Amino acid sequence: MSRDTGAFDDLLQEDRRFPPPADFAATAVVDASIYRRAGDDRERYWAEWAEQLEWFEPWRRVLEWNPPYAKWFLGGKLNVSYNCLDRHLAAGRGERTALLWEGEPGDTKRYSYAELHREVCLFANALRGLGVQKGDRVTIYLPMIPEAAIAMLACTRIGAIHSVVFGGFSPESLADRNNDAESKVLVTADGGWRRGTIVPLKENADEALDASPTVESVVVVARGGDLSEQTGVTMVAGRDHWYHDLVAEADPECPAEEMDAEDTLFILYTSGTTGKPKGVVHTTGGYLTQVYATTQAVFDLHDEDVYWCTADVGWITGHSYIVYGPLANCAQVVMYEGAPDHPDRGRFWDLCERYAVTIFYTAPTAIRAFMRWGDEWPAKYDLSSLRLLGTVGEPINPEAWMWYHHVIGGGRCPIVDTWWQTETGGIMITPLPGVTETKPGTATRPFPGIEATILDDEGDETQAGYLAITEPWPSMLRTVWGDDERFKNTYWSKWENIYFAGDGAKRDGDDYFWILGRVDDVLNVAGHRIGTSEVESALVDHPAVAESAVVGKGHEIKGESIAAFVTLKEGVDGSDALVAELREHVGKKIGAIAKPEMVVLTADLPKTRSGKIMRRLLRDIAEGRAVGDTTTLADPAVVRRLQKQHEAEEG
Ligand code: WT7
Repeated sequence: MSRDTGAFDDLLQEDRRFPPPADFAATAVVDASIYRRAGDDRERYWAEWAEQLEWFEPWRRVLEWNPPYAKWFLGGKLNVSYNCLDRHLAAGRGERTALLWEGEPGDTKRYSYAELHREVCLFANALRGLGVQKGDRVTIYLPMIPEAAIAMLACTRIGAIHSVVFGGFSPESLADRNNDAESKVLVTADGGWRRGTIVPLKENADEALDASPTVESVVVVARGGDLSEQTGVTMVAGRDHWYHDLVAEADPECPAEEMDAEDTLFILYTSGTTGKPKGVVHTTGGYLTQVYATTQAVFDLHDEDVYWCTADVGWITGHSYIVYGPLANCAQVVMYEGAPDHPDRGRFWDLCERYAVTIFYTAPTAIRAFMRWGDEWPAKYDLSSLRLLGTVGEPINPEAWMWYHHVIGGGRCPIVDTWWQTETGGIMITPLPGVTETKPGTATRPFPGIEATILDDEGDETQAGYLAITEPWPSMLRTVWGDDERFKNTYWSKWENIYFAGDGAKRDGDDYFWILGRVDDVLNVAGHRIGTSEVESALVDHPAVAESAVVGKGHEIKGESIAAFVTLKEGVDGSDALVAELREHVGKKIGAIAKPEMVVLTADLPKTRSGKIMRRLLRDIAEGRAVGDTTTLADPAVVRRLQKQHEAEEG
């Protein structure tokens, strides 16, 4: 769907409108005046949000913009962990619930803000004990357990830069990230639960560590329950330490380091158009300000709310909207370790009922899966506590939006469709639930204080083209770790001083933005970014493969799935077993999320006379569509052969 603009012409005819319910609007945290305030003086407006945080030293200047480099809140000093914890304790809110955690097997833990503060201080001192200093990098490779949030906050407390690596990534991906960031410490666990099976994180980490020379120490969390009895973890003397041993000896007093607003807070790797993931760099003051503001205004956060974002902390959504945004707002946050269909397909709704969740934020791919599983699952549970729903990660099809609205939201909950990226750090285009009239399938308008538009290749405004951000924003990425050139080329070379997001977009008569999906060689599989060239490199790494081309193919649940066209080396025979092996190989190299759904072995790939692979044609073939213009092909017969072969394989 992402590249098929025809479907979006139909979308723009979407005329169902959902004004905010009057009772919701009446008590909403922000009203329409916020747009005017932001419009009158953008810098003043962002400064007003920042003033709600606690600063050790005030900033001298709100913004310095030397394109493409922005600095926000210059000279200001603050600490993120202090703002997420100590600030609330000082306000007498220490007994308030911070985290309500549930493991997949059903074990639970609750942390008050005071308890979370204590754990963070202990682990921060444990990290210091391992020699971690301000500016050092710490890789976090954990399941969705409280220690993930604790480790992140502990890093921010002492000014260490964390790099969280999603637990589903392979040892090789983990090693690449350790090496690129030159991490000193790795924090992992013996394992985690996913669909009733153990994800052997320490075992993966050990494999990665053989190829991660900078890592001096490893901290291992014992996940607990019967998992820890089942995993035979090997601890390397002198290098590996149990988390509980370190914490048992640590001092609970840990003053928060005074960080400059522009000190690096974290690195998060994301896929781009080359084989090497880029380390997106976020800094302290601007990032915290924007995630604080958006969490409060977009999710209409009130004291009574119980907030649940279903993402994993390994992605930016988990960083900004499980950990930093909600905790900076003193929210009561639900965190769940496992799969939505374990032990059965009602698990999420069971959690919503038992924790009386009021705000629920998930991804379109999950919503489509729930739809397919049937209304009987949510119908078994009392979802009347819900009052606001959110989505993120990819365009949501109106059918899924309507289902979410009726079946989960009972027709009463506003839906916030939030567009943003790892690079933007926080939400950029979104409805405000007490203000904006929504329409199924559109993220509506830029958040107050964000300037977005749609441009063509020449940089002229247009109704349909590329999504562009025309002014710097507080939580924007500052660079790509160790690679300023890539930062400039990827985001700032298309137009002058304007951010290129990599998404196509259209604008409707209400000036609402409709996001059309990626325009580069980046796929969005189940809301996760995967570079086609990463998968291609993984395939070519297999000894049987000569060349490969990877494209996206529409998928009912995942939005997009991966289709790989592969030519084998001379003398290698193709077989089903080889196809299975190639899929496994990609899983091993990158992680299970990158395994191609479809692998087509072919004698040739369609190329132009200059040797460029024509992906457009491969997409047509993968989708079973009529193939477009082939006149520029070096050998048009290649496409006919591929099509025939594909038809035969599809049955
Ligand atoms: C890409 C960013 C931001 C957290 C999750 C993904 C797509 C994201 C939406 C939305 C349409 C969306 C875009 C974007 N995307 N949200 N509401 N509507 N598309 O973060 O991995 O950095 O991916 O996700 O294509 O560029 P990410």
